[in-house]
Amino acid sequence: MKEVAVIGIGQTKIDEHWDKSLRDLAGDAALSALMDSGLEKVAALYVGNMMSGSANRQQHLGAYIADWIGLRGIEAIRLEAACSSGAASFRTAVMAVASGEVDSALVVGVEKMTDSPLQEVTAALATAADADWEAGQGLSFVALNALIMNRYMHEYGWKKEHFAPFAVNAHTNAIHNPFARFHEPATIENYLKAPMINDPINLMDASPVGDGAAAAVLLPLESLHNPSHKKIIKVAASAAATDSIAIHHRKDPLFLRAAYNSGKKAYDQAGLNPSDIDLFELHDAFSIMAALSLEANGFAERGQGPRLALDNEILPTGRIPIATRGGLKARGHPVGATGMYQIVEVVQQLRGEAFGTQVENARVGMSQNIGGSGSNIITHIFQLI
Ligand code: COA
Repeated sequence: MKEVAVIGIGQTKIDEHWDKSLRDLAGDAALSALMDSGLEKVAALYVGNMMSGSANRQQHLGAYIADWIGLRGIEAIRLEAACSSGAASFRTAVMAVASGEVDSALVVGVEKMTDSPLQEVTAALATAADADWEAGQGLSFVALNALIMNRYMHEYGWKKEHFAPFAVNAHTNAIHNPFARFHEPATIENYLKAPMINDPINLMDASPVGDGAAAAVLLPLESLHNPSHKKIIKVAASAAATDSIAIHHRKDPLFLRAAYNSGKKAYDQAGLNPSDIDLFELHDAFSIMAALSLEANGFAERGQGPRLALDNEILPTGRIPIATRGGLKARGHPVGATGMYQIVEVVQQLRGEAFGTQVENARVGMSQNIGGSGSNIITHIFQLI
C-alpha cells in the first residue's frame, strides 16, 4: 500500500446558512481545498453526509457535487455512517489512494440541518440510534447521552459542575476560529446557568445543529517529489471499529469499546502510543462523550476524564489539547461534515496555521469521529513530515 498525504484543505463557516444550498456549501469547501492543493482536478470524489435525503430532499450527492464543482465525469460517491460520515468518506479516500486504484482524491463532508424545524432534525438524528429499542421509545440523542452521563456521575461520583471545563475550553478556543459557529466566551457561571435540555445535559453540554462543509485533497506521498505547496501532512493511520447500535446491548455502557478498538488499531498502524499525540480532535458532541473518548483512547484512567479537564490538561497548552478550534461544542456539529472539520483542524495545527490556539511544536495529531452513541468510530492519525 502507498503512503498518503493531505495536500489541501478547505472549510466554510458553520452557521445557519439560509442563503446557501447544500451544493453551495460543499462547493465552497471543495474548491478552496482544491485551490489550497494547487490541483485543478482529481480522479475521485468522496462525499460524507448523513441526512440530505430528509433534510434537503437531495440524495445522490456524488454526482450532484462533482457536477457543481466542474468535475463532471469523475468517479464520485456519497458515504453514510451517521455522525461519522465525514471520517468514513475520508477513510474510503485514503484506502482508494493507498491501493493505487485512484491517483488523487477529494473528500467533502457536508450537512445542511437548519432549513428544517428542530423537531424534524431531532427525529432525523435519532435514525442513527436503534429504531426499535431507542428512537421508537422516544429517545433523542440528547436523551441517550443524558442516560450515559447520569450513570457515569453515579458510578464515579462526579458532579455536574465538574464537566464545565469541557464547554469553557471549547468556547474559548472557538473565539479564535473564524469558521466556528460561536464566538462568545463561556465561563463556569454560564455553564451552571444554562437552560436544561435533558437532565443532566444542559445547553452548554450539547453541540449545536448547524450547516457547513469541510474538505481535503489526498495524493500518494510518493508523488510529492518537489512540493510547491505547504508542509506535507502524512496520514499515519486510518482505522475503524463498530459496537452495538443500542446502548443496552453493551456489557459496559460507560466504555466506548469501538473508540478503544479503532484507536488501538490506529496507534499500532502508526507505531505510536497516546503519549506521542500532540493534540486530539475528539467527538465532543456532549461533554460526557469528551470524557469517555479521553478514557477509551488512553489519555485518562476509567472514570477520570473530567480530572484532565479540571487540571487544564485539555487546553492548547495542556498535556492533551482537545477541541482546539472549538470542537463540536462550539465550532459546531453539522453531523456528516464534522469528521472532515476535525481532520482539517488537525492539518491546520500540524501546518502551524491554527492562529490563536496553535499547539506549540505540534507534529502528531489525532482525530476521532463517532457515529451514533458510540457504535461506529473512525480514528485518524496525522504526522508532519
Ligand atoms: N451551545 C450554546 N449555545 C447554543 C447552543 C449550544 N449547543 N445551541 C443554541 N445555542 C444558542 C443560540 O445561539 C441561541 O442564542 P441567542 O438566543 O443568543 O441567539 C439560543 O441558544 C437558542 O438557539 P436555538 O437555535 O433556538 O436553539 P434550540 O433550542 O433550537 O436548540 C439544542 C438547541 C441544543 C437543543 C439543539 O442544538 C440540539 O438538539 N443539539 C443537539 C444536536 C445533536 O443531538 N446532535 C447529534 C449529536 S451525536
